[in-house]
Amino acid sequence: MRGFPVTPVLRLAFGLALAPLAWVGSAQAADQVTVMADACAGCHGTDGHSIGGMPGFSGKKADELKKVLHDFKSGAREATVMDRIAKAYSVQQLDAIADYFASRKK
Ligand code: HEC
Repeated sequence: MRGFPVTPVLRLAFGLALAPLAWVGSAQAADQVTVMADACAGCHGTDGHSIGGMPGFSGKKADELKKVLHDFKSGAREATVMDRIAKAYSVQQLDAIADYFASRKK
């Protein structure tokens, strides 16, 4: 193992071990929700204000959005793409996304 760069490897391992701590603060948690919500904007428009043929959901309440997203995830509601998208998130993440959109400008 002569010449093996131990220090950078240790630094990397230490860095990765600490990375999850970055999500502990609530400011970071809010940032994480906006990042997730940005992934929806490509199709549904900013804050759910759809332009074009996509269904918008800017006027929906948090509970309605949660129900729809849970139903997409479970398959109870038929979809072309939203079932796969909803499955990519945990229920907690979907709820956070729903709360975020419901709190945005109507
Ligand atoms: C690739 C484009 C695309 C992305 C990205 C996307 N959606 Fe959708 N969404 C759709 C389509 C298309 C529908 C209509 C149902 C279907 O066919 O899947 C839909 C339907 C919905 C509906 C139901 C609206 C209604 O009134 O019927 C909600 C709520 C919704 N999406 C929320 C979201 C959220 C939240 C995200 C981000 C996590 C998201 N969508 C990301 C394409 C997308």
